[in-house]
Amino acid sequence: MPPVRKAVILAAGMGTRMLPATKAVPKEMLPIVDKPLLQYAVEEAAAAGIEQVIFVIAEGKEAVREHFGAGGRVAALLRAKGDAAGLALVEGPAQLVRFAYVYQDAPLGQAHAVNCARDLIAGEPFALFFADDLILGPEPCIGELIAAHQATGGSVVGVEEVPAEQIPQYGIVEPATGESGNPLRLSGLVEKPRLEDAPSNLGVVGRYVLSATTLDHIERSRPAIAGTEHYITDVLLSQLAAGEPVSAMRFKGVRYDTGRPLGYLVANIAAAFEREALRQPLAERLRAFLGG
Ligand code: G1P
Repeated sequence: MPPVRKAVILAAGMGTRMLPATKAVPKEMLPIVDKPLLQYAVEEAAAAGIEQVIFVIAEGKEAVREHFGAGGRVAALLRAKGDAAGLALVEGPAQLVRFAYVYQDAPLGQAHAVNCARDLIAGEPFALFFADDLILGPEPCIGELIAAHQATGGSVVGVEEVPAEQIPQYGIVEPATGESGNPLRLSGLVEKPRLEDAPSNLGVVGRYVLSATTLDHIERSRPAIAGTEHYITDVLLSQLAAGEPVSAMRFKGVRYDTGRPLGYLVANIAAAFEREALRQPLAERLRAFLGG
């Protein structure tokens, strides 16, 4: 099984659910505590042994390049002042992995976005991140998916149990008959089903490890419903139809959907609680807000 060395991070979206914050600032650059959301994804990838991150970005997302680039005005200033701690914060992101950038020129969907990175990922398995999903936990979620990919030999999606009313917002997996393990062998997936059509309550989160055949299946597959987006779900269905194993992994961490204001706020609080220096004072402020 070839190692998973590369991650594609999709960061070309408009962020319309977080306007006006995302008018000038890419949604992926909004801070979770004091680090941009994207940095958590890159740190997760690096902690799992990924060597190169390929960002799929769009016009207006140049701040992403600036953040993960070396040098710059702030670094020069901190160096001149001899501020080693500040310099480490500013230069840290550029040192996590190697970076590449590709542009998605039109909002043509997830499969098209991945295909924009084609030249950099051809012929090998790769990790795929949807930047909106922040996953905090005892080990990098993508590392658990990589291990599952190595065990099964096929594509793997990260899943979690989803409350009934949210099922229509997710890709929902269909476990193969008699399967209940982890990773869980699948027989199908449905993108954003109605509750009554959902084959399980396991929803796909924005973490995937996709097998080396994926680019062929992007070309070969079509949106399940003509005229809708070409989802990664459609690509996985094409792999299943070709007899390739596709599995779901229930990961250990907790996932926060930062793409909406409530989820974004909760993610900030969860990440702050992981910081020793913030946990106690933040808990006190929250208790005071709640009047207790
Ligand atoms: C995408 C995927 C969906 C998945 C979700 C997780 O949907 O298409 O299968 O459950 O991400 O965040 P989106 O929310 O981008 O429409």
